[in-house]
Amino acid sequence: MGKLQLWFLVIAGISGALAQEDLYRKVFVFRNDPNEAYVVVKPEPEWPLQNFTVCLRSYTDLTRPYGLFSYATKAQYSEILLLKPKPGEYRLYVGGAYVTFRVPENRMEWEHVCASWESATGIVEFWVNGKPLPRKGLQKGYSIGAEAVIILGQEQDSFGGGFDFYNSFMGEMTDVYMWEHGLSPGKMRAAYQSLTLPPCALGWRNLLYEIKGDVVVKPRLRD
Ligand SMILES: *[C@@H]1O[C@H](CO)[C@@H](O)[C@H](O)[C@H]1NC(C)=O
Repeated sequence: MGKLQLWFLVIAGISGALAQEDLYRKVFVFRNDPNEAYVVVKPEPEWPLQNFTVCLRSYTDLTRPYGLFSYATKAQYSEILLLKPKPGEYRLYVGGAYVTFRVPENRMEWEHVCASWESATGIVEFWVNGKPLPRKGLQKGYSIGAEAVIILGQEQDSFGGGFDFYNSFMGEMTDVYMWEHGLSPGKMRAAYQSLTLPPCALGWRNLLYEIKGDVVVKPRLRD
């Protein structure tokens, strides 16, 4: 994406250990700008997906592009990719193609987003702070590959790597969820309000994750 491509080498010693915990009222702090740090989250789906929903909350003062959620397979590095190319805009990739959503510019607040996609219609829903944007269409009939690597805070330009550090996320991230289905409008709002959510394999209240590099788990300072 950016001008300078740096290739990350996984060096023994900076890899963290796999942890599983309830991260309620905690955040990941990505401390540096730019950075080579990221968080691997699991489990990846066991079967190809016809539907998905991804939600997360982030807080940053970055104005350059940054990757938030990157789901890559060996065949397609941008199988699912949520990134913010600039203030006031999000991009959702499915199978290498993307749609853009214009959003209000961040006024130094936490920003909550949920993106969902269904293959049958190709409809993408994009919710910002509990409100739906006009729906768009993408990759009708496509199937999301399983056997993925899912990474927070960077964009994968190869399977599990190929990061451009100038597209890294710097700031705080919390409430990361992925479902293998769509959510009702009520549950989309519940995700924004941190209310009870449908069961999911990949979720903040029972997150299986591995920190790679300089990311710190800290209590949340405010709502
Ligand atoms: C995907 O979502 C559509 C529409 O909600 C549903 O009809 C279909 O059964 C779902 N497919 C899978 C594999 O869950």
